[in-house]
Amino acid sequence: MGVKLGILGLGTVGTGTVQLLQDAVGRHPLLEEIEIYRVGVRSPDKPRAVELPQSVITTDLAAIVNDPAVDIVVEVMGGLEPARSLILQAIKNGKHVVTANKAAISRFGAEIFNAANEAGVYVMLEAAVGGGIPVIQPLKQALSVNRINTVIGIVNGTTNYILTQMQTEGSDFGDVLADAQRLGYAEADPTADVDGLDAADKIAILASLGFGGRINLPDVYCEGIRQVSKTDITYAEKLGFVIKLLAIAQYQNNDHSQLSVRVHPTFVPKSHPLASVNGVYNAILVEGEPIGQVMFFGPGAGAGATASAVTSDILSLAAALKSNTAAPNPLLTCRHEDYCQVTP
Ligand code: NAP
Ligand code: HSE
Repeated sequence: MGVKLGILGLGTVGTGTVQLLQDAVGRHPLLEEIEIYRVGVRSPDKPRAVELPQSVITTDLAAIVNDPAVDIVVEVMGGLEPARSLILQAIKNGKHVVTANKAAISRFGAEIFNAANEAGVYVMLEAAVGGGIPVIQPLKQALSVNRINTVIGIVNGTTNYILTQMQTEGSDFGDVLADAQRLGYAEADPTADVDGLDAADKIAILASLGFGGRINLPDVYCEGIRQVSKTDITYAEKLGFVIKLLAIAQYQNNDHSQLSVRVHPTFVPKSHPLASVNGVYNAILVEGEPIGQVMFFGPGAGAGATASAVTSDILSLAAALKSNTAAPNPLLTCRHEDYCQVTP
């Protein structure tokens, strides 16, 4: 029996995922069993970069999540609503979910994971943070035995691309932002990138996973890169620094009772490992005990990279469906919601 996908969205990430599912057959034994059964879009007549039978495309996204034949719903439409309601409805209908939607997870993660827990289904979100970088599963599983003290990273590809171009080419902010949009890095509303909100969503998710408690978005201090000028970048350079938009979650005191979670432009010494992370690349440095420092590095946005993460989640769920075993469910085990006192 095949595994039927209902994909919500055929934009940058949806198109990349369909393309990868079509191109990668032969690279993984389960790919042959995966069927792109329905794809939901807003504008059915828009020209698409992938070939799909017209009968697969629909504007009725509710019909996809309510269709008994669909095994896995892949939410790559973005935004808060109707994405949240569609995810919850899919869960209620007993479907596993893959999502790249950090905005929905950072705000509604508790509701979504509680619903998934009750329904006995899985919600996977590797693509929600770090684009193609595998960081959610390692943090949740391979590093879970460590006490995490710090998570610090460059988690927004668009702003890192803009800052890098301003620094290396002297480019204008607006021109580079337009490039980032053309390349598929930016959010539908790029304000989320530029003002640090996308990075705040991501550090809230990473901190919830790393520190074992729910980090609420309003508790994350957030400042974007709008105020960073070429003059700032030039002075930083002269003083031996680069300016990076960092997302940081770290304990404030020795008894580990207070966590600071924040996003802001930062002077990073050129010798620091994060200083040389350029362009659309992201990196997440995790410091824990007893492991010490671990750094995750890779392409943080874009169709191919993000499709890699989405598809790895699809394959995990397909494997679980085929063998009837449990798949890893990040956040599901977060039960210490009062563990951290968060200070801005
Ligand atoms: P996008 O290019 O804007 O694509 C969104 C897709 O969803 C489009 O196909 C659009 O349909 C469809 N859609 C949106 N709202 C809809 C609605 N109400 N009803 C029906 N269809 C709707 O967005 P994206 O860049 O692929 O991002 C998708 C998600 O992945 C977001 O949560 C984003 O944060 C996340 N993400 C993006 C990246 C990246 O590099 N772009 C990386 C990681 C995660 P039409 O095509 O008909 O307009
Ligand atoms: N807009 C996001 C970024 C996409 O630039 O990092 C990847 O999450």
